[in-house]
Amino acid sequence: MPNAISGFSKLSKSEKIEWLLDTYFSDKEAARTLVKQYWNTDKKLQKLHDEFIENTITNYYLPLGVAPNFLINDKLYTIPMAIEESSVVAAASKAAKFWLDRGGFKAEVLSTEKIGQVHFTYNGDFKDLQCFFERIKPKLFTATSDITKSMERRGGGILDIELKNKSQDLAHYYQLHATFETLDAMGANFINSCLEAFAKTFKSEAEQSLPGDLEMVMSILSNYVPNCLVKAEVSCPISELRSKDISDPERFAKNFKQAINIAEIEPYRAVTHNKGIMNGIDAVVLATGNDFRAVEAGVHAYASKDGTYTSLTHCSIDDGLFKFWIEIPLALGTVGGLTSLHPLVKFSLEMLEKPSAKDLMQIAAVAGLAQNFAAVKSLTTTGIQEGHMKMHLMNILNQFEATPQEKHRLIEQFKTNVVTHSAVVEAIENLRKD
Ligand code: MEV
Repeated sequence: MPNAISGFSKLSKSEKIEWLLDTYFSDKEAARTLVKQYWNTDKKLQKLHDEFIENTITNYYLPLGVAPNFLINDKLYTIPMAIEESSVVAAASKAAKFWLDRGGFKAEVLSTEKIGQVHFTYNGDFKDLQCFFERIKPKLFTATSDITKSMERRGGGILDIELKNKSQDLAHYYQLHATFETLDAMGANFINSCLEAFAKTFKSEAEQSLPGDLEMVMSILSNYVPNCLVKAEVSCPISELRSKDISDPERFAKNFKQAINIAEIEPYRAVTHNKGIMNGIDAVVLATGNDFRAVEAGVHAYASKDGTYTSLTHCSIDDGLFKFWIEIPLALGTVGGLTSLHPLVKFSLEMLEKPSAKDLMQIAAVAGLAQNFAAVKSLTTTGIQEGHMKMHLMNILNQFEATPQEKHRLIEQFKTNVVTHSAVVEAIENLRKD
């Protein structure tokens, strides 16, 4: 077991790498070469990435792919997607093309409210706390006026602050529950700064005029944003679902809807179903420099808001009309954070024609819906492995360090053969024997 190290963050980048090599690697030269191979030759660009986080030693690449032909509210988009899973971008592109010929996607932002809370304990009478809160509430707004000034000028800011009594669930526990409009910013820093200012003012005012002990516990935004909602949908007459791989549209629509209904009532399926949706959403969220952990946490909380984890997408068939939609909370930003720092985030946002946060919510929701459509379409028709393994073929070939000629031969061969790991390995071995 290695010894603990103190002052690691104070070491230079090279010293950090050398410590790692000495401590963990038998082939130091190979490990050093690998780490340096991923450095960018442009020193300025490398420094930018080094400074995003602490203790950076190198870069960790993910592919940035694009899915073209997304018609959203009658506007065509090419959607940037940062993701490692081989079949995701291909599936998104396929779904985009499918719906392009059937009127495209319709999307709508239903609400944009963000939430933050100051959590505190109080051992006195709730009525006293309530009177105190009502009296000093205007001071909470005044205390944040410097922070909110520019947001207010643009039409955003603090929407409301409420006092919530949670002492029945946890002894002496109360909250200041605040709502915010942060416009094109995701707003985490804005919200947290406002909350910390509320806490400071609330505490100092309480010390002067509230009987009993009040202790601040913490001030933090909530990633659960059930009132920051976006809806996206596709629809067409069932007969129009007919395509190269849907020969019986009635049957397809019925099976597809059944699959969605299963995800609505069966949590084991709903989790995988929603994971497929997040394949699309996370890829867009990451490519546009947003916080995919925040989005994931909020989305899954929303999926269980009624007490049972359920599907985020729904399907209906009425009077011969097939309709498929998603309703999802997405707190996204197109200004602030990484959006003006990471060159590829800027590139992605430019490709999306500099969307507002609302536009991006719609685009991400559509990417999730498209991904789910593609997955459930495969699952209820050919099965998922056919497409999945076709895309995975390149990974297997790369694992075996196939040459360009070998790749060409094997890709041709597997156009008409089922891809399995063992079949590909056997084919490589046979080819090399020849
Ligand atoms: C794989 O990444 C995602 C799927 O499992 C989603 C689904 O089952 O709906 C294919």
